[in-house]
Amino acid sequence: MEKEKKILYSGMQATGTLTLGNYLGALKNWVGLCDEYECFYGVMDLHSLTVRQNPTEFRQNARKLYALYVAAGLDPEKNCVYYQSHVSAHAELGWILDCFTYMGELNRMTQFKDKAAKHADNINAGLYTYPVLMAADILLYQADVVPVGVDQKQHLEITRDIAERFNNLYGEVFTIPEPYIGKAGAKIMSLQEPTKKMSKSDENVNATIMLLDDRDTIIRKFKRAVTDSDTEVRYGEDKPGISNLMDIYACVTGKTHDEITAEFAGKGYGDFKLAVGEAVADELAPLQKRYEELIKDKAYIEHCIKENDDKARYFATKTLRKVQKKVGLTELIR
Ligand code: TYM
Repeated sequence: MEKEKKILYSGMQATGTLTLGNYLGALKNWVGLCDEYECFYGVMDLHSLTVRQNPTEFRQNARKLYALYVAAGLDPEKNCVYYQSHVSAHAELGWILDCFTYMGELNRMTQFKDKAAKHADNINAGLYTYPVLMAADILLYQADVVPVGVDQKQHLEITRDIAERFNNLYGEVFTIPEPYIGKAGAKIMSLQEPTKKMSKSDENVNATIMLLDDRDTIIRKFKRAVTDSDTEVRYGEDKPGISNLMDIYACVTGKTHDEITAEFAGKGYGDFKLAVGEAVADELAPLQKRYEELIKDKAYIEHCIKENDDKARYFATKTLRKVQKKVGLTELIR
């Protein structure tokens, strides 16, 4: 059957508030894609369980993430914004795909290695099979494209490998998804250690801009950003701090690196850092305002969650039933 529109799938873990990296690498690029694609965006709460969560905070964080998606511009009437854990097909397909994934493949996942090193006291099986659940998320919706930051590329590759393996055995069951990685912002670095990815779990609060940081905090963090002893605003491997700030500034202003270099020629880093801080604060202000309104509007958010959970469940169950039949599980007797 020909699909009317191509299908797009993505999501974020429901842990803590989002960072500027999540926003510039993913969320900002998602807005507006619903004209071209049938879009599904999950609040990936099952994935978040791979790290121990405080139940009350976790529930609040999942709701916050939902509100941030909508505040950033994902209209829930036009995008299926839903909770992963509300669609049991994710866990069910995840299990089936676990049986089509090799430990050798999972052993190569760099994110597993990083997270295992960070949480040495809790290297659980979920952390290990995390990429398989992610494959299930994507394949359930027959996604053609998956917009993500660079750090998720390897997970997309394993998703494609699992899908191809399954299709070779059982026929064309899954669409093979393509990653969609934005040109700018796909890897925003820490403001304190610019050779490291900006991450919400960074212990140094000055390293990460949180989407709900207020204006003064944003500007202060940029002022403290680590640069180098030079004064030239120029993009280059030898200048990771300045290059990262240029990437951020380029993402929020739409300017090219050359235009940015020209704009700050003869000025010091102080002026540049202030300009980046102000531009980011200006970019986030409308999102933050909308978020404050939405988070209080429980009835609206809950209505959106329910409608979209139902829609997601409908699509996901269709694929799951097909897979169950293909592998030879006995059909439900009604
Ligand atoms: P998560 O929650 O770690 O990150 C969400 C999205 O933000 C991007 N990102 C960044 N982009 C640029 N610079 C950064 N510093 C930065 N940090 C994070 C990530 O690349 C991602 O696009 N496993 C996924 C969640 C997930 C998912 C899925 C995504 C679960 N199932 C299915 C797509 C499709 C994750 O942990 O994202």
